[in-house]
Amino acid sequence: MLWPMRRTTYCGKVSEENIGQRVVLEGWVNRRRDLGGLIFIDLRDREGILQVVINPGSVPFAEADRVRSEWVVRVEGTVRARPAEQANSRIATGKVEVVAEALQTLSEARTLPFQIDAGWRGEDDQNVSEDVRLRQRVVDLRRKRLHQNLRLRHKFITAIYRFLDSEGFISVETPFLTRSTPEGARDFLVPSRLEPGSFYALPQSPQLFKQMLMVAGYDRYFQIARCFRDEDLRADRQPDFTQLDLEMSFVTQEDVLDLNERLAAYVVKETLGLEIPLPFPRLTYAQAMNRFGSDKPDLRFGLEFTDVTEVFKGGEFRAFASAQAVKALLVPANLPRKEIDALEAVAKSKGAAGLAWVKRENGALTGGIAKFIPPSLHQHLEIAEGQTALFVAGPWRRSVESLGAVRLELGKRLNLIESGYNFAWVIDFPLLDWDEDNQRWTYMHHPFTSPNLDDLEHLQSDPGRVRAYAYDLVLNGSEAGGGSIRIHRRDLQERMFAQLGIGAEEAQEKFGFLLEALSYGAPPHGGIAWGLDRWVANLAGEESIREVIAFPKNKEGKETLTGAPSTVDSDQLAMLGIAVKE
Ligand code: AMO
Repeated sequence: MLWPMRRTTYCGKVSEENIGQRVVLEGWVNRRRDLGGLIFIDLRDREGILQVVINPGSVPFAEADRVRSEWVVRVEGTVRARPAEQANSRIATGKVEVVAEALQTLSEARTLPFQIDAGWRGEDDQNVSEDVRLRQRVVDLRRKRLHQNLRLRHKFITAIYRFLDSEGFISVETPFLTRSTPEGARDFLVPSRLEPGSFYALPQSPQLFKQMLMVAGYDRYFQIARCFRDEDLRADRQPDFTQLDLEMSFVTQEDVLDLNERLAAYVVKETLGLEIPLPFPRLTYAQAMNRFGSDKPDLRFGLEFTDVTEVFKGGEFRAFASAQAVKALLVPANLPRKEIDALEAVAKSKGAAGLAWVKRENGALTGGIAKFIPPSLHQHLEIAEGQTALFVAGPWRRSVESLGAVRLELGKRLNLIESGYNFAWVIDFPLLDWDEDNQRWTYMHHPFTSPNLDDLEHLQSDPGRVRAYAYDLVLNGSEAGGGSIRIHRRDLQERMFAQLGIGAEEAQEKFGFLLEALSYGAPPHGGIAWGLDRWVANLAGEESIREVIAFPKNKEGKETLTGAPSTVDSDQLAMLGIAVKE
């Protein structure tokens, strides 16, 4: 008897080089076909599928007749060339096949809740709702597309390790059970059994630990770090997600940006084989907002704004005459009324009062506000025949952001978005942000970001004017990373807390450990964190980060495969000193 034999190769790795060789294969039955007595099995493993032929009358025929899709089998046989006319160019092993001499079933399978075989044949997979896919994630993960995405993720992470290791970085792990870190989201809390009534917080990021590592002299640190944030979910957000977190000592912003650009170029080359040009373009926050209406502008297409505030100032059109900002977007298309209405809805969803418009048709300006357009507009905005100009007026931030949303929508509708990988830095973020709801200044990035020292004098008198040494890395209109140079002096950190309305006592209670660390001799330092899931989704051409995470949460934050979150035993709660309110 042949068994037990060990696998000699992966199905997907068999090629013309193996013709004439005996092989032992193990894998799943991707598909079984019975062609008038002759049985074909496409055998699948992580590397791909391979055609196995079972001849009538051969030893394995009876078992081959019994097997069904997704059974796990072991096959021994000889590799031979397929006749040229039967070669399959859609799969890597399409020029060969294996003639089975033995076949053994290792495990049987029930019919899958949905089919996953087509992708492996180079065809489109069955369309299945995401709910079903996530509930049946083990089956879903068998699909070729997910295999490819998770492999890409692995390649990405190993490339990061290689590059950062060669640059002298060391990887250090930091705790999951810790204290709250203020990154702008709610914390996930973990009750303590040993100290009932006390809670750990899961880290929103390793921010304070990496800073303390710098104070401790580690100089160049990185970590592929899991982070936990209880916030509303979107296609690019998960409650637990992964960052590439890094920190460097004795550096300026320039050093951090340079290292990150080289790292980005290296990982893109290693994962996709593509060269990306360096250095990345840079926009200040003010430029990004004024020209594109976003602090993460999608630069794969143009459609820049024109500022026309001055043109309308004090003019006939009341809504524009006294507005803090009037921004215009010139669209190279004669947009039908229905389309403009849809765009207006987008603008309004971002807080704009409306979306005004004019078009040039048969030489004349027509539409909504045509009669209010002063002749001087043409010095700023030349509306050519068949073009449409869109306007938003109001408070500056709301105006640019709502027109920014219109711009993105137009990019999609008019098919303007070019393929490829478009990187940019957004720098010179404001240090502070005005919190309308609570009527106070809050941090824009986090409270440990250093003010630009040139602006420090305005910290009390004109806080909104102070720029930070903070930067975001933008990839195809998505925030792929963000970081800053940190405050490394205790007195400045204390001043910053005070500015944020965090009193000395509260600062001591929440961040005493950081203040103390800073008082033991802290080096100037700075760093960044990349959204690793977003990066990989972008490189994989996926819309949602859920496609590059093995076991993601759904849009409601649930993990339906195992059924998390779930209720727990009353005993468990009692041990923690917790009672759940009905
Ligand atoms: P920040 O909060 O900007 O910075 O996070 C860094 C990057 O992480 C990604 N990201 C997310 N990805 C998926 N799901 C989420 N819920 C999510 N939230 C953030 C984004 C973002 O750019 N400690 C600082 C970094 C630093 O200053 O060094 C921080 O965490 O791509």
